[in-house]
Amino acid sequence: MLPVIQYTGAEGVLDLGWGHPDPTLLPVEAWAESTSEAIRAAGWTALTYGYANGPGPLIEWLTVHIGAIDGRAPSPDELFVTAGASQGLELVSTVLTRPGDVVLVDSPTYHLALRILTDRGVELRAAPTDAQGIDPAATARLVGDLRAAGRRVPMLYTVATFNNPSGASMPVPRRRELVDALDGVTIVEDDTYRELAYDGPAPPSLWSLASAGVVRLGSFAKTIAPGLRLGYLSAEAGFVRRLAGRGYVDSGGCVNHTSAMALAQFATTGRYEAHVSALREAYRLRRDALVGALRAAAPGVEFTVPAGGWFLWLGVPDAAAVARRALERGVGMSTGERFHVDGGGTRHLRVSFSMYGPTDLEEAAHRFGGSLKIGADQVRP
Ligand SMILES: Cc1ncc(COP(=O)(O)O)c(C=O)c1O
Repeated sequence: MLPVIQYTGAEGVLDLGWGHPDPTLLPVEAWAESTSEAIRAAGWTALTYGYANGPGPLIEWLTVHIGAIDGRAPSPDELFVTAGASQGLELVSTVLTRPGDVVLVDSPTYHLALRILTDRGVELRAAPTDAQGIDPAATARLVGDLRAAGRRVPMLYTVATFNNPSGASMPVPRRRELVDALDGVTIVEDDTYRELAYDGPAPPSLWSLASAGVVRLGSFAKTIAPGLRLGYLSAEAGFVRRLAGRGYVDSGGCVNHTSAMALAQFATTGRYEAHVSALREAYRLRRDALVGALRAAAPGVEFTVPAGGWFLWLGVPDAAAVARRALERGVGMSTGERFHVDGGGTRHLRVSFSMYGPTDLEEAAHRFGGSLKIGADQVRP
């Protein structure tokens, strides 16, 4: 049989290496109802070519919803519906960059964004970083040096809130400094995890703090389901007009119209709010279960408890060796280098608490702790 889905696990392995949702948390029934309600209510208009920026009912809901979850509400002309954050990044980087440009990225950062950007033929450089995240003054100096050497530096990509892989969020004063520091560099802010906040609301986005120069990518992959291929971006109205005017959009209409109509139904009937609030509770319990179990089973391993998102970023002496032995004990983990462009990450592992319930996570931590008790790079409490 030909494959249907991207990930299928190995027998007997608890795989914390993948940032995928638990199948039991996907809203199968509620989505099926929303789709059939949307198509019955909207009729053929749900199935024809859609309005370039995204269907009106979804854009209207997004203006109010983003106002509730972020520092400010966008106007309708600042919004564009995408086929997920990945497609948003592909589209925005296509508009902003040319092959040979330098694109700055935070470090560590979402590894598959690095793939999308590499496909553009750009050179990736890590923005200078300290304990609070990207260092605005040092980054501005780097941009100046690159430009003096004749390079174009059109964009910086960052996951500033509940970072994948580190779980860290940039403090608010640092956000303000960053949006003011970079002249002529568009900040592309990947805000995929904003709504999965477990200890109070997420900090305001860079986009909400800036008067110009930030494109924020949102996604429904983590809050509803990745298979929908739905997200949105907020940006200056002039930039949104550029995206909506591209031939690809002109030819196909909204990039995912029928699903966007179903999402409008899912959202405006209250299902979205109910679902995301249940997810927050479920993931908070999972985070706490994994944190507690790791502290007990692997007390020498350092990490910061993330206030949102899906990931813990574990400090270990030799990530490749530790990951290999953990796998032998039946736990999958991602090694840190793939989240860096500069060879960093050899002493970090990313683990995700999204795919399993608390009991499996406790078992995974137990197996991981067992794997640390052997070998030359043993982690000592
Ligand atoms: C930071 C980040 N951005 C984007 C994505 C992919 O989002 P989408 O499925 O909306 O393309 C992920 C998924 O893991 C992610 O962690």
